[in-house]
Amino acid sequence: MDQMHTPLVELKNISIAFGGIRAVDDASIDLHSGEVVALLGHNGAGKSTLIKILSGAYKRDAGTILVNGEEVPIANPRDAKKYGIETIYQTLALADNVDAAANLFLGRELRTAWGTLDDVAMEAEARKVMGRLNPRFQRFKEPVSKLSGGQRQSVAIARAILFNARILIMDEPTAALGPQETAQVGELVKQLKADGIGIFLISHDIHDVFDLADRVCVMKNGQVVGTARTQDVTKDEVLGMIILGKCPPGAIVGPGAMNLS
Ligand SMILES: Nc1ncnc2c1ncn2[C@@H]1O[C@H](COP(=O)(O)OP(=O)(O)O)[C@@H](O)[C@H]1O
Ligand SMILES: [Mg+2]
Repeated sequence: MDQMHTPLVELKNISIAFGGIRAVDDASIDLHSGEVVALLGHNGAGKSTLIKILSGAYKRDAGTILVNGEEVPIANPRDAKKYGIETIYQTLALADNVDAAANLFLGRELRTAWGTLDDVAMEAEARKVMGRLNPRFQRFKEPVSKLSGGQRQSVAIARAILFNARILIMDEPTAALGPQETAQVGELVKQLKADGIGIFLISHDIHDVFDLADRVCVMKNGQVVGTARTQDVTKDEVLGMIILGKCPPGAIVGPGAMNLS
């Protein structure tokens, strides 16, 4: 297989049920380096569950996961991190009362030769990674509780990429943000793309992510309705996929597409 075109990640025929409910049903999707794939669908469609299988939070009932063309045994979050898969949840999971650098190194602190915390090195690293992501960010001395939503988002992303994430999962990153901060997250995503990171961007709002996504994948009732390059479909067509499960001509039909016969 052409190495250039081997996807960063492939999820193949993934299924999981909770009790009798098929939360994810035979879902397949892939992601390439430097690509943003938006995972769209109503609340309850199975988006978060699917990505929690990739991030090791849930154990799938069926299906395979490939990273760089090789099948990988992802059974827990530690496995996922080993393969460069990092997730940023809507809640961000930041430690509010400490600064950006402390958050970046939370649980993985740098130490001096004497075993004490190396605050100088951590702040220098924090400035380097934050400078790349969000050059205007200057509030290194303040607890993250004082930061804006967009700034907090950039701290959470910096923490993920600091430890060599190649695959970033962002679950509803802009759900709690205003328009200006949503735009700021968009800038972060573009920066990550330029660095060759592959991003799954999950949203129930097509307008939030359409402009950022190279491809869209729509889920409904746990199934993939279809996948399309953003340039090959209109927003209205994607809305039709989300609401009706109707797959337009520009999309690759998934098992969840409405039967039009
Ligand atoms: N831990 C769980 N236990 C039971 N049911 C769950 C659990 N997680 C998700 N579900 C169910 O799986 C379905 C898909 O949910 P989810 O993946 O959160 O959807 P989305 O992220 O698209 O809004 C829903 O019916 C939800 O109630
Ligand atoms: Mg969700």
